[in-house]
Amino acid sequence: MANQKKYLIANWKMNLGIKESIQLSTAIKNGFKKSWRSAIEVVLCPSYLSLPAVSEVINKTAIKLGAQDVFWHDQGSYTGEISPIMLTEVGSEYIIIGHSERRQYLCETSKIINQKIIHCLSHSLIPIVCVGETAAEHHRGDQHQVIIKQINAAFSTVKVKKTNRVIIAYEPVWVIGSGQALAPESVEEINQLIRHLLGDIYGREIATNNFSLIYGGSVGSSNIQSFLRLDNIDGALIGNASLKSQEFLNIMELTITV
Ligand code: PGA
Repeated sequence: MANQKKYLIANWKMNLGIKESIQLSTAIKNGFKKSWRSAIEVVLCPSYLSLPAVSEVINKTAIKLGAQDVFWHDQGSYTGEISPIMLTEVGSEYIIIGHSERRQYLCETSKIINQKIIHCLSHSLIPIVCVGETAAEHHRGDQHQVIIKQINAAFSTVKVKKTNRVIIAYEPVWVIGSGQALAPESVEEINQLIRHLLGDIYGREIATNNFSLIYGGSVGSSNIQSFLRLDNIDGALIGNASLKSQEFLNIMELTITV
């Protein structure tokens, strides 16, 4: 596997102002046990505005910083956008790309997602690429087709070097924020498919060593262990449950004991 540590990635979405982000990251930092360092990679992804403040809170700890999006040029006339260089400067090592909420509300296309991944990797940032089917696609039984299309569109032109790391988050759109996660076996089935597709694109070695596959969608302390017990799940992307410090710390503790 790319990284023996389990990823626990907190996606705070458009929640929490700067003050609240400082409070939450401080509580997480204070609750994070030193002995967890070798077993979990915890990544906090606050809003752009809170990145510098959270970066300062978690500076010199094992907790990592991530952004929720990025633009695909280093600088220039792109009003409102943030470049990988700016994110690196603020201490961000991870970038969420192609979250379904951005695909849905910001009309992010496969081409845009592909460009963002290429640009992230060229700056040695770690992309967390989200894929997943909508409710309608799921009910039609099209989830495999959707995943095949999304993975190929995102990666077929992306060069992955031996030094790059990539995370793919399978997030069925219809379970995000619903409180009802997908059955772990269904996630395992999709992640096996993703691993297979990556093998076709990159060959077995890169697909195994450079890519980590995680799951997202209503993950919390009640179900985290059922996902992490499966072979092809290297962690979780967590929305709502990462907004409460005690719940997120419980998830970490439970991850250690899987
Ligand atoms: P959720 O969100 O944990 O609240 O379902 C996950 C996500 O959208 O990344």
